[in-house]
Amino acid sequence: MTELTRQLNALEATLPRLRRGDPTVFYDVTVILEKLREAAIALERRQAELLTLYEVGRDIASIIDLGQLLESIMDRAIVLVQAERGFLVLRDAKRDDFEVAVARQFSAGEVDEAQVEISHNIIRRVMSTREPLMTTNAQEDPRFQSSTSIVAYSIRSAMAVPLIAKDELIGAIYVDTRMKARAYSVGDLSLLSALADQAAVAIRMARLYDELQQRNRELQATLDELRTTQDELIRAERLSVVGRMASSIIHDLKNPMTSIKGFAQFLGRDDLSPEQRRYFSATISRSIDRFVGMTQEILDYVRGDVSLDLKWVPVSELINDVRTFIEPDFRAKGLRIQTDLAFTGSVLVDQGKFQRVFLNIANNARDAMDPGGVLTITSQQVGDQVEFRLQDTGPGIPPEIMDRLFEPFVTHGKPSGTGLGLAIVKKVVEDHGGTVRAENSPGQGACFVVTLPLNP
Ligand SMILES: Nc1ncnc2c1ncn2[C@@H]1O[C@H](COP(=O)(O)OP(=O)(O)OP(=O)(O)O)[C@@H](O)[C@H]1O
Ligand SMILES: [Mg+2]
Repeated sequence: MTELTRQLNALEATLPRLRRGDPTVFYDVTVILEKLREAAIALERRQAELLTLYEVGRDIASIIDLGQLLESIMDRAIVLVQAERGFLVLRDAKRDDFEVAVARQFSAGEVDEAQVEISHNIIRRVMSTREPLMTTNAQEDPRFQSSTSIVAYSIRSAMAVPLIAKDELIGAIYVDTRMKARAYSVGDLSLLSALADQAAVAIRMARLYDELQQRNRELQATLDELRTTQDELIRAERLSVVGRMASSIIHDLKNPMTSIKGFAQFLGRDDLSPEQRRYFSATISRSIDRFVGMTQEILDYVRGDVSLDLKWVPVSELINDVRTFIEPDFRAKGLRIQTDLAFTGSVLVDQGKFQRVFLNIANNARDAMDPGGVLTITSQQVGDQVEFRLQDTGPGIPPEIMDRLFEPFVTHGKPSGTGLGLAIVKKVVEDHGGTVRAENSPGQGACFVVTLPLNP
């Protein structure tokens, strides 16, 4: 019981006392009281309707599946205005027509195809005027005489309201009833219109959400496609790199081959001193080494992802092998190598590959230093890692290439440099779970720091 009804009851209770007084006053008060009661009932109904409307709005706003949403809107509309039949139609902008999205008939349940013979006239009119429409006597309303559906189902009262969101006509809701007792009122129409306003917004949101989902799926599919082609691309890129290198290899081949040929011819002469013979032989050897080294680097890079042949190797063995290999070259250029191994334990590496790491860094140091230069190689344990430092006494890394140093084909100041040396270093070190970085120590040349996990 509302406050209003309570007050009216209280007023009514005072009536017997009033009856004893002036009868006209008594009559007037009775009439006013009666009117007040009617107003209170109407108000209560209105309040209940608004509450329902509010709940409906809240409920449909929470549905994001479009199909489910349309069904729910239709069911709510039927209950709200106590309709016996209803259709929710959606506009088909391409055909400038509409199609039935949801249909409910007199008895509960779905309407079969044949029965979906809706009141096209009413819906068309609502869609073209974008105004709500109501008829309380459809059979005799001249606006709907041509509608077979109204005659077929003996519809008495029908209403239709447009679904408009953000000025866009989405569709319409249509309801009707055959019951004589229940003819729709203006109140019903405004109730249905209010529902339609909320429904239109919810449909628009659900469609946006659908679109978003669809775009998401498309993006995901594209992403998957991208991922699967990425590997192929990387391989293709490696192969194209080989192509780009072919010309530079042929170019580089000429020099060592010409000198090898010249020195080989010299070696054939009888009048050579033993020193000359040794010198020519060593030069030929070095030229071939350089060439073999070059081809090996290219191969390593092209193969890219070949698996590692891991073994525990003592650090001293690793470094000494490298040292033996590079020492003749260093000596020939008047350079020295110095090692200071504070860590002498073993590391888990692919020995052949990891030696290339040191070889490439050492070869760069050799290229960079002038006679008298020193390359110092140290090892020490830092936490659960071993850290190798290769420090030279050259001019340091040119600042203009510092941030691209480990990228392929970044070379500077070397006529025959391919720029692959450090790219290979980075790949091999990272394949081993380690890191590599370069620093320029002021006045001391370049320093390459390679780390490796001790417990990989
Ligand atoms: N120790 C160093 N001191 C000075 N500059 C260096 C040093 N190490 C590398 N660089 C610079 O980095 C560049 C890239 O080195 P990287 O080894 O990748 O290629 P590259 O030596 O030019 O060619 P290659 O493929 O034959 O090794 C070099 O060209 C050189 O300019
Ligand atoms: Mg190099």
